[in-house]
Amino acid sequence: MSDPTRRAAGPAVVPPRLDTVPQADSQRVSPVEGETVFDLRDVDVHYGSFRAVKDVGFTVVKNEITALIGPSGCGKSTLLRSLNRMNDLIPGARVGGLVSYHGKNIYDADVDPVEVRRRIGMVFQKPNPFPKSIFDNVAFGPKVHGASRTERESIVEDSLKKAALWEEVKDDLRKSALTLSGGQQQRLCIARTIAMQPDVVLMDEPCSALDPIATARIEELMVDLAKQFTIVIVTHNMQQAARVSDRTAFFSTEVNETSDIRTGVLVEFDDTQRIFSNPSDERTENYVTGRFG
Ligand SMILES: Nc1ncnc2c1ncn2[C@@H]1O[C@H](COP(=O)(O)OP(=O)(O)O)[C@@H](O)[C@H]1O
Ligand SMILES: [Mg+2]
Repeated sequence: MSDPTRRAAGPAVVPPRLDTVPQADSQRVSPVEGETVFDLRDVDVHYGSFRAVKDVGFTVVKNEITALIGPSGCGKSTLLRSLNRMNDLIPGARVGGLVSYHGKNIYDADVDPVEVRRRIGMVFQKPNPFPKSIFDNVAFGPKVHGASRTERESIVEDSLKKAALWEEVKDDLRKSALTLSGGQQQRLCIARTIAMQPDVVLMDEPCSALDPIATARIEELMVDLAKQFTIVIVTHNMQQAARVSDRTAFFSTEVNETSDIRTGVLVEFDDTQRIFSNPSDERTENYVTGRFG
């Protein structure tokens, strides 16, 4: 921890100023090309006094898919939620360090968390459509933001097309979303997220409740969406990370011998190909070859 006083003030954490944050990060092995969307430095997340993840630093590049992998409980979801201030909604959760998004710390006092979540959308593990029609699910956010009926119609069509669901539902837009299959519901949730015209889409194990065919469709869709959006995905499916992502962050847990408390750490961040073929850390190698985890 570079600054032990950082969290002294309690829940209203004041992150370090942009110009006081140390440069360079040993976890960043390869030089990252392309436009940087997120730059994380020394990020840690607490739930009350429990530190769930510590010292995380990596970079997310525009129009790429970045995968977060690692064993259960190592802090992947926690870290993902810190990218769009979703942890703010969990009582006792605190994010320290720097989460720079297009050069701006999203935890700065002048940043509106609602706007952060609009620009950085999220898709969850279990498809969670509203008990409303297909149309109303996708139109919900734009309606709240004041889009007219005509605008909503065009947003719904466009978003469903981008989510590769349009052809299957275009004649049934008034049907309840809950009548759709699991895979269709997840694509609907993706359509609902992109209807807000986000810049980044975060996905937390979006295929874990789906069968292999529905999973393959979502994977295809992710690759397609990355042409327009920047994607960060948590997955416990290593083949999925290897198939779809450009870069991979491998997390693990460190166990404190005396207290037996586990803290998530970022072991290695690199090009996906290298993580799976020639990782530099033995822990990564053991995990990706299935010897551990
Ligand atoms: N809302 C919460 N309150 C307290 N502890 C939590 C909460 N969510 C997660 N944790 C703890 O933080 C650690 C990391 O959890 P999580 O981010 O869900 O891991 P992963 O997604 O890698 O399985 C775990 O020890 C978990 O029990
Ligand atoms: Mg998780």
